Amino acid sequence: MAKYIIEKSGPLRGTVEISGAKNAVLPILAATLLTDEPCEIMDVPALSDVEVMVKLLESIGSRVSWDYRNKIITVESGKSLRNEAPRELVSLMRGSIFAMGPLLARTGRAKFPLPGGCAIGARPVDLHKKGFEALKAVVEMGDDYMEARARELIGGHVYLDFPSVGATENIMMAATLASGTTVIENAAEEPEITDLAVFLNKMGAKGKGAGSATIRVEGVESLHGTKHTVIPDRIETGSFMLAAAITRGDLLLTNVVPGHVSAVMSKLSECGVVFEENDEGLRVRADVNPLVATDIKTMPYPGFPTDLQSQFMSLLTVVRGHSTVTETIFEGRFKHIGELNRMGADIRIEDRKAEVEGGQPLRGARIRATDLRAGVALVLAALTAEGETEISDIHFVERGYEEFTQKMTKIGANIRRVED
Ligand code: EPZ
Repeated sequence: MAKYIIEKSGPLRGTVEISGAKNAVLPILAATLLTDEPCEIMDVPALSDVEVMVKLLESIGSRVSWDYRNKIITVESGKSLRNEAPRELVSLMRGSIFAMGPLLARTGRAKFPLPGGCAIGARPVDLHKKGFEALKAVVEMGDDYMEARARELIGGHVYLDFPSVGATENIMMAATLASGTTVIENAAEEPEITDLAVFLNKMGAKGKGAGSATIRVEGVESLHGTKHTVIPDRIETGSFMLAAAITRGDLLLTNVVPGHVSAVMSKLSECGVVFEENDEGLRVRADVNPLVATDIKTMPYPGFPTDLQSQFMSLLTVVRGHSTVTETIFEGRFKHIGELNRMGADIRIEDRKAEVEGGQPLRGARIRATDLRAGVALVLAALTAEGETEISDIHFVERGYEEFTQKMTKIGANIRRVED
C-alpha cells in the first residue's frame, strides 16, 4: 500500500489548474447507458473512481475508450446490455448505483448489489427505491441487492425526504425515457445535478428545473449521442483554497466556477482570507490578514458542503479561537478527528457537533486516511505540523484528486508518495 511522507511546508504559492468534477463525471458516464449512440465526455479526471465506473460500464456491455492524455472518454452502449452489475465493482464505489436508473430505463430490469456502508455512514438507498417505484417499477430488496423491473416506466411524482444527490440523479435519468412527466420535489440542487441535466438535455431529454428543489422531466422515446465537457471540481477547488489558508499562502486557481464555492469562500472570508477574481482565475490570499476561527455547519447545496468539512476542521485546529463544526449530512463523518488529535489538535465530539480549541501547534505523527476527504484533511494538517507526518491508506485520496502530489509539489508542498 502507498503512503504520503509530509514535512512542514509553505506558504504555498503558485498556480493550480482545477480538474473536471469527479461527482459530475460519474453520473454523466452512467447516463451514457441511456442511448446506443456514442457519447464523448471531455475534461475527465484520471481517477480510480472513474476507472471503476468505466469497468462497470464495460461489464454491462458498453464499449469504452479512454484517451488519458486528452482527458476524453467515449462510450457506446449497444443494444445487448446485461442487467446485473458485478459485486466486486459496486463494492469498490458507492457511486456505481448511479448506473441503476439508466439501465432500468434502457432495458426494463436492473439488479445491483447494495453498495453497503462506508467510513462516513450507512449510505441507505431507500430514496432511490422510492423514486423507481414512483415511476411504476417493481423494486425487490434482497439482503444484499436491489432489483428494479418495469416493462414500461410511467412518469410520476416523488418527494425526497432528504435532498439526496444520488437519488435525484438516478430518478432524473430513469425519468428521461418514461412515458409521461415526472416531478421530483425536494430534489438536491448541487451543480453536478445541473451538469447532468445539461448533458441529458443535449442527448434529447426534456428536463427542467435542475439546480432548484423541483425538477420536471417529460419522457421521450429515445435519446441520442452527444459531446460534453464536465464542470470543474468544486470540492478540489475548496481543498486548494484551504491549502492556501492553512499555510498562509497565495494561490491562483484556474478552471474555477466561483459561484459553485460561494459558501466556502464566505466562511474563509470570515476567517480573514482574501479572494480576488481576475481573468486568469481566482486568487486566494491567506497572507494578508491574521486568520481567526469561525463556525461551520454542513448543509445540502448551496449550504456549506459536507465534502469540505474535515478539511476546514484542519484549518480550525491551527487558527486561534474556539469553533464549532456541525455535520448534518453523514452520521459517520468525524473519523478524521482521532487522527488530528494524535497530531496535537484539541477537538471534542458531542454527537454531530465537534468543538475545536484552535491555535494548537500540531506535530507530525503516523496517521491514516479514513475516507477520501479526510485523507486530504490530514495532508493539510501535516503541511503545518512540526516534524514528519506519515499518512497511510492514501488510495482514498487518489480516488478523488487527479495528480495530487504533483499539483501540491508544484506550489511548494514537501510531500512524497512512497510504496509501503
Ligand atoms: C453524493 O453522495 C457525493 N458522491 C458525495 O461525495 C457527497 O458527500 C454527497 O452526495 C452529499 O453531497 C457522489 O456524487 C459520487 P446523498 P450520495 O444521497 O449521493 C441520505 C465525495 O467525497 N440518504 O446526497 O451518496 C444519506 O444517508 C463523496 O466525493 C438516504 O437517507 O449522497 C446521507 O445522510 C462522499 N437515503 C444523505 O442522504 C437514500 O436513499 C446524503 O446522501 C440516499 C441517501
